[in-house]
Amino acid sequence: MERIHITDVAPRDGLQNQQVQVSTAAKLELIRLLAAAGVQSVEATSFVSPKAVPQMADAGELVAQLNEALPELRSSVLVPNLKGLERAHAAGAREIAVVLSATETMNRKNINMGLHEATEVSARTLAEARRLGMRTRAYVAVAFDCPFEGETPLAEVVRLASRMREEGAGEIVIADTIGSASPGQVKERLGALREVVPVGQLAVHFHDTRGMGVANAWAALEAGVRRFDASVGGIGGCPFAPGAAGNVATEDLVLMAERSGFSTGISIDGLLDAVSFAEAQLQRALGGRAITWLRRQREKRRMAPVARTA
Ligand code: HMG
Ligand code: MG
Repeated sequence: MERIHITDVAPRDGLQNQQVQVSTAAKLELIRLLAAAGVQSVEATSFVSPKAVPQMADAGELVAQLNEALPELRSSVLVPNLKGLERAHAAGAREIAVVLSATETMNRKNINMGLHEATEVSARTLAEARRLGMRTRAYVAVAFDCPFEGETPLAEVVRLASRMREEGAGEIVIADTIGSASPGQVKERLGALREVVPVGQLAVHFHDTRGMGVANAWAALEAGVRRFDASVGGIGGCPFAPGAAGNVATEDLVLMAERSGFSTGISIDGLLDAVSFAEAQLQRALGGRAITWLRRQREKRRMAPVARTA
């Protein structure tokens, strides 16, 4: 079976927009449950302004404790600028992700820079991270539609992805920030992106606002992409992108991939434990499109009589 790689972004994308303040210990426990489920990499937190995103104010503490608790787990952190990189490096982070949006307005709303400045700052941040020996990812956000400017020109997405690759980003993450993409668009855009970025370096990050996250992931698989972001329980959303719902749920993505002949190395039962834990923390029901069915299957397995051995 062919393997796909999933980065669970729940600890960062999933929590950044939550009303309930989650403790550092609970964030670590969520990450521990993800690792126990077989998740090989997570996006742990972000080094952004605590005024902009109060939930991520404990980023330094979280990274230090995570490195101690789960030294083998691959974890990246989002940094919007050199100050974020400096804080991340001081805390012991080994991998960073820069966030460049493909429109002028989205960059201004998200990181208070225009498109040109955001591009140059992302380039400098990537160069400095590489100099420090860190792994790097570069998001190209609003790669389909921008909540402020409408459909994002494909040529612009291709230009920025290509630039981020030239700047040495290890992985280019094509992000559907507001979850408006359709499988046809995913096919078209990834086809063009493959011309400028080797497909092994492309990742996709789908939000599931219109219920098309899994279909879009399938279109990406068909286009040759094998690296996916997803969020356990389907939590997530950029606080500065109106209309953004949660990410495609990790449990939905794993179900679809495994049922279609790909291996993920991830146990759905383990993910269900993480969903239940996140529900207790956030005090509301969570889960992707398949959550009711998945829980029923697990319950049936638990109730089934143990097979006789003699
Ligand atoms: P700014 O106000 O323009 O920054 O914010 P500044 O450079 O003018 O500095 C103002 C103050 O912030 C200064 O402190 C700086 O030191 C401080 P003061 O002198 O006032 O005490 N500062 C920082 N503090 C901590 N960490 C930093 C940092 N940088 C400056 N890194 C800034 C610019 C980028 C900081 C701000 O706009 C910000 O933090 N934005 C948050 C962006 C964010 O977290 N967005 C959500 C994540 S992106 C996303 O969800 C999309 C994604 O999932 C993909 C997708 O779905 O499309 C990735
Ligand atoms: Mg996102």
